Amino acid sequence: MKPKIYVTRKLNEGILAKLEETCEVTLWEEENLPVPREVLEREIREADGLFCLLTEQIDAALLEKAPRLKIIANLAVGYNHIDIEAATAKGIMVTNTPGVLTETTADLTFALLMATARRLVESSDYLRRGAWVTWSPMLLTGQDVYGSTLGIIGLGRIGEAVARRAKAFDMKVYYHNRTRKPEAEEQLGLEYCDMATLLRESDFVCILVPYTPGTRHLIGHNELALMKQSAILINTSRGGIIDETALYYALAEGKIWAAGLDVFEQEPVPANHPLLTLPNVVTLPHIGSASIKTRLRMADIAADNLLKGLAGLTPPNLVNPQVDARDTKR
Ligand code: GLV
Repeated sequence: MKPKIYVTRKLNEGILAKLEETCEVTLWEEENLPVPREVLEREIREADGLFCLLTEQIDAALLEKAPRLKIIANLAVGYNHIDIEAATAKGIMVTNTPGVLTETTADLTFALLMATARRLVESSDYLRRGAWVTWSPMLLTGQDVYGSTLGIIGLGRIGEAVARRAKAFDMKVYYHNRTRKPEAEEQLGLEYCDMATLLRESDFVCILVPYTPGTRHLIGHNELALMKQSAILINTSRGGIIDETALYYALAEGKIWAAGLDVFEQEPVPANHPLLTLPNVVTLPHIGSASIKTRLRMADIAADNLLKGLAGLTPPNLVNPQVDARDTKR
């Protein structure tokens, strides 16, 4: 009998066909709406495998309803929406898609940094609404990127990829990380420093740490107060790492210069969110890894993880190696 899998969003035909070769696939058909919790709770009862997105809360209560589940294949590198401890306790493998999205997300991080520094969205809006009357010396002037100082909080794969881009812009790069990375320091000319120094010295601060209970509101009122008035904060990781209320006041009161945000505490961000009222914020709908090529490769990798796990093999991107695939083979 084919294992049953539940897929929480429409995937590219080729990937679905690959899953259907060996599995009985049930799909949430709505392309632009997440699967409702009650549907997920119903479908998970019969599922041997789950292919999910970061829009689903995979918590202990849901896993209690999943007696057959062997593997959760997540179409993202971040897995803060999955209760890994609960999954591990139940012997359920969890996989993610690291590596493949590193360069694409670093590109977006840098694009957001440049767009915010040079006020691209504001300038484009200005032109489109017919406000452009004449060229003017100080019109829509922003901050220089080239030759400035960047502080990277969280030097993982994406942090390093952002640092490489920064070096091409002749930036001085500070980083703060749980552990020092002497090799990256040497190869990329990075300088390790404590958080306070990084916040004080940087013209741009990029958040690239994973979201965990320990990094929730890592950037709040006190941290923002350390930043330069001309500084720009960029977040392409997870919204909850910044205290958004503190950020709103820091931006509105001119304590920092601007912010570029691809992620929010609540997603989709409500249209009346105070941060969306500020001209010095560039906001994006969580598109860090959204290049066609990368998203297709992510889906392919997630499918491969799922199929390997269901076949009793260790999936390449197992997040909880305490669960051995061979033990879960039934
Ligand atoms: C996207 O945010 C991801 O974690 O892959």
